[in-house]
Amino acid sequence: MSADDRTSPAEITAAAVASFEGCGDPRLRELMQAFVAHLHAFAAEVGLTEDEWRVMIDTLTATGRITDERRQEFILWSDALGLSMLVDALSHPPAADATESTVLGPFYVPGSPLRGYGEPMAEEPAGMPAWVHGRVLSVDGEPIAGAELDVWQNGDDRLYAVQRPEAPEGHLRGRYRTREDGTYAFTAVRPVPYPIPDDGPVGRMLAATGRHPWRPAHIHMIVRAPGFRSVATHIFDAASEYLDSDAVFAVKRSLVRPFVDHAADDPERPPGIEGEWVSLELDLVLAPGDDDSEPVDPGRTA
Ligand code: BEZ
Ligand code: FE
Repeated sequence: MSADDRTSPAEITAAAVASFEGCGDPRLRELMQAFVAHLHAFAAEVGLTEDEWRVMIDTLTATGRITDERRQEFILWSDALGLSMLVDALSHPPAADATESTVLGPFYVPGSPLRGYGEPMAEEPAGMPAWVHGRVLSVDGEPIAGAELDVWQNGDDRLYAVQRPEAPEGHLRGRYRTREDGTYAFTAVRPVPYPIPDDGPVGRMLAATGRHPWRPAHIHMIVRAPGFRSVATHIFDAASEYLDSDAVFAVKRSLVRPFVDHAADDPERPPGIEGEWVSLELDLVLAPGDDDSEPVDPGRTA
């Protein structure tokens, strides 16, 4: 056999890429060819060994095994590798002055109870009351009446209600509508930092690489209004730990806000709140457009 008869790594890559030439769907062809080219380039660049390749296969197998209708470890990989945030950024390019989007996460449950202005989301004690209030506006500064805020968060035990089968069904989540002047208010609790589910392959990767699983304290919301682009976002507590090292890369500067401390006898205390409390004033701004599509991965829980 002469040297010319040997098959080079580059020829293997070229053959795998070329195998998709006959694909009748041009977008699928583009996706598969680019994917294979980048995958091969990765293996070639790092000189991937057979043992390392086997560990990767075992990791994918473990990811499949732990995934079911309540646990979605593949999306957790996407979150922990920053891919969910990248796809979100590519799909929702920033619209001038509109509230920025961020990752949806696994704990969204559609169909939260519709609650009245200022009403609490906590259906049992869950932490320091937080009065969250503001307006929903268009990018021109016009108030939007009848916009919906679909809100969910964790309690001071770090958990979302969907992580606790014994929790009341609608605990720590609710839908609120803006009034005629675009104002809204709801009573949340001050959110606390929490670890992403780290008892599976993603958690093992974080531990092996010296990364931590923590997310900074935040409240999630999806804001929707007819004639406007829906936005799925978070509001981060400016006093939280982990703002600079969110395990899923979801912090955007514009979404970090200060919670203000209030004494129990503060005369501004909203009705229904007892003891010490915090407040957060937050205007939300929607870009024009029609987007009645719902989040792509509702109902993941872990
Ligand atoms: C969350 O914020 O709920 C979340 C997002 C990504 C992964 C895990 C949790
Ligand atoms: Fe969260």
